[in-house]
Amino acid sequence: MKNKFKKLSQETQDFLKVISSLASKMNVSIYLVGGVVRDMMIGKGHFDLDILVEGDAIAFAKKVSDHYDLSCKKHHAFGTATVYFENYKIDFATARKETYSKSGALPKVKASTLQDDLARRDFTINAMAVSLNKNDYGKIIDLYGGQKDLKASLIRVLHDQSFMDDPTRIFRAIRFEQRLSFSLEKNTLKLLKAAVKNNALALVNPHRIREELILLLSENIPDRVIKRVSSLLGLNFIAKGLILKPAALTLITEISKVLKFYDRKFKKNRVLKTWILHLAALIIDLPLKSVEGFLEDFGFKKGERIIILSIKENYLKIKKLNAKTKPHVIYQTFDPLSFETIVFFYASFPKGSVRKQIEDFLDDLVHVRVLIKGNDLKCLGITPFSIYNELLEKLLLAKMDNNLKTKEDELEEVERIYASIIPDIYKQ
Ligand code: CTP
Repeated sequence: MKNKFKKLSQETQDFLKVISSLASKMNVSIYLVGGVVRDMMIGKGHFDLDILVEGDAIAFAKKVSDHYDLSCKKHHAFGTATVYFENYKIDFATARKETYSKSGALPKVKASTLQDDLARRDFTINAMAVSLNKNDYGKIIDLYGGQKDLKASLIRVLHDQSFMDDPTRIFRAIRFEQRLSFSLEKNTLKLLKAAVKNNALALVNPHRIREELILLLSENIPDRVIKRVSSLLGLNFIAKGLILKPAALTLITEISKVLKFYDRKFKKNRVLKTWILHLAALIIDLPLKSVEGFLEDFGFKKGERIIILSIKENYLKIKKLNAKTKPHVIYQTFDPLSFETIVFFYASFPKGSVRKQIEDFLDDLVHVRVLIKGNDLKCLGITPFSIYNELLEKLLLAKMDNNLKTKEDELEEVERIYASIIPDIYKQ
């Protein structure tokens, strides 16, 4: 390959040149490693950079951040540091050797060489490095045949113990296989199946499994990924008895379509956590208790739990909406829900009136405002002041149903509402 770096932006290429000369001044060797090398070789861009340092990675990252006047986040326990440059996240790690005391546990690590660091990696395609050192800048270090496997579109472990050492690699193997449209090499597939049979995942902390599940469900092709997970290991690791129903797959595909629509239509709004929607599609039919148990056991964050539980809790309510449902009820139904939840329901009910109602809610109802203010209520002689908020809220809902156009329409309506909520005795 002529210019291995050509898929990286010009700023990144310049950055690598600069840190190369900083490394030579500090007398340390540095390498580009991991996913970015794999993606460079297959001609794909990759945002985050992993820099391996034979030497003190934290001291080197500090040198780089000082040079560019950037902030540097140090993780002394791991011998790593992160620097943010332009839109990129750059991780610096000290080359290390890992030993696993038991399956599924986190490994014991000690500082070592590039060779040892590559040897501890998951798959041949992820175990290549590119030298960033002056004497052989750009040289590919490929000790395990990563380039050959890339050409043959194969995911291959470096050694037979790999899945038992780190069972989360079961998920990683499936993720890369599906993302790149590769295949699991024959022996790798055999080893993966054996690890599943030996219940290797039961030894892994559920929080690590949660992180893998999030990555799996964040891929661009979540339906294919989850289908493969289900066929290779089942879904019992999520919840006992959970199976992949065709309806869940259809929903996941529909969610992907709706998300594209969402991106086009509501670009200004915040970025959605798409994996939550795919996860909800998988577990929506489980009893509420099982969903709660799953969210608790895997340690999902509070905001994430709220979204999934609100999907579960509101599903039947949304199902009951029909063409005759009044606009103010539509507003009250969707207003408390997160965008994730709303997008989920948009995907769940392609037929019937729900889609139109969600569009009305997002396009019109959320923008409805009343024209009159507290002062106008005062001029009407309305007391006590403490009911003003309630009156204005009720007016807002009435405006949605009754097409009130002018301030006069609103004043008339608010008097009607006032009359209906204040008992006659109180008014005297
Ligand atoms: N790695 C590993 N075993 C793991 C996790 C990571 O060997 N269980 C190694 C791989 O060499 C991987 C690198 O650490 O390439 C970086 O990990 P990560 O950022 O998770 O993977 P990427 O390959 O960059 O994947 P992605 O494209 O999804 O970011």
